[in-house]
Amino acid sequence: MKYITVRTKDGDYDIALGRRALDELDIEQLAERFDRVGCIVSERVLALHEETLTRAAGRLGAKIYPMMDGEENKNYRYAENFFNLLLKECFTRRSLLVGIGGGVVGDFSGFCAAAYMRGIPIIHIPTTLLAMVDSSIGGKVAVNIQAGKNIVGAFHQPQRVIADTRFLHSLPEREIQNGIAETIKHALIGELRLIPILTQNNLQTICDDDVMEDLIFLSASFKAAVVGQDVREAEIRAILNYGHTVGHALESWMRYKDISHGEAVAWGMKAEAAISRRMGFLNDGDANLINDLLKHYGFAAKPPIFDPAGVLEHMRFDKKNIKDSLRFVLLKKIGEPVYNIEVEEGLVLDVLKSMIE
Ligand SMILES: NC(=O)c1ccc[n+]([C@@H]2O[C@H](COP(=O)([O-])OP(=O)(O)OC[C@H]3O[C@@H](n4cnc5c(N)ncnc54)[C@H](O)[C@@H]3O)[C@@H](O)[C@H]2O)c1
Repeated sequence: MKYITVRTKDGDYDIALGRRALDELDIEQLAERFDRVGCIVSERVLALHEETLTRAAGRLGAKIYPMMDGEENKNYRYAENFFNLLLKECFTRRSLLVGIGGGVVGDFSGFCAAAYMRGIPIIHIPTTLLAMVDSSIGGKVAVNIQAGKNIVGAFHQPQRVIADTRFLHSLPEREIQNGIAETIKHALIGELRLIPILTQNNLQTICDDDVMEDLIFLSASFKAAVVGQDVREAEIRAILNYGHTVGHALESWMRYKDISHGEAVAWGMKAEAAISRRMGFLNDGDANLINDLLKHYGFAAKPPIFDPAGVLEHMRFDKKNIKDSLRFVLLKKIGEPVYNIEVEEGLVLDVLKSMIE
């Protein structure tokens, strides 16, 4: 088993990573100081891993609360149902929640923990690659409201993250690909040791247990180091948005249909590399390497059908924009991001147009 410590000014916590992490950890001891423990578990993951999860819940002395985990359920009304349920089940400020599932369950259960009785502790057990390398780390929790995604939320650091890679054996390829997009991002913005793992493998071989463990370890350690420096996303943490300014606008323009988050971020990374090149930051060699890496994992091959002006319009709503100017995370070279860079709308539009040609 490997451990990564996330150091934040709100307290430190460990990520335990291994292919039988749940079995090997002394989880009884994690739960013993709480008066009640509740596991909010993805219904799908529960169906796929019932025996493992029932055993773990038994050892935690926890009751299981299944959750429908589509993005459409990550909402405030569903959270209110859970608040009522927790109250009915006598959860107090001395109780513990455990969120088991992908990023949807992590964000949702983390939000419930952050808000219930002004905050109770949470442990995350991520079951998707994206959740292991990204969403379970850093304490950002949120639910969606009608006006937008992740609008209502908090920073609420977990007590611990347990990444048991056994869960990934049942993960569909498309979801592996979503997680790979975030590891490619981590490689491009600073964790260069990910590059050889990514280039020497492909979507199939990267699922080998040992390779996957190395990939998650480097990727999660990188995210942990970045969020540790900037818990509330005031400065350096912004680099984690590389590829996401265009990516979010694209998926929002497409109404989250016919494009996965990973694909949208991949298009975003391609577009933002092109912007970096046009701004004179990135050289052709690095830009080509980025495009090749994305292609190698099946991304950004066939251009999605989108309206560049429409996507630009969605970008204007981005939380990172200051007043009217568009701000981006760009790359000076692979591994060297710069953030909060103002880019002219005309240039962004040109790059978006070039992507659908
Ligand atoms: N808090 C953060 O910092 C942060 C960062 C990135 C993304 N997010 C959020 O994370 C969410 C996306 O997370 P995600 O990509 O994990 O998607 P997800 O939670 O929707 O899971 C994807 C799919 O995989 C299924 N699944 C989960 N684990 C499985 C397993 N082991 N085997 C088989 N199927 C499994 C789920 O049921 C779901 O259908 C979004 O809501 C996004 O906003 C949050």
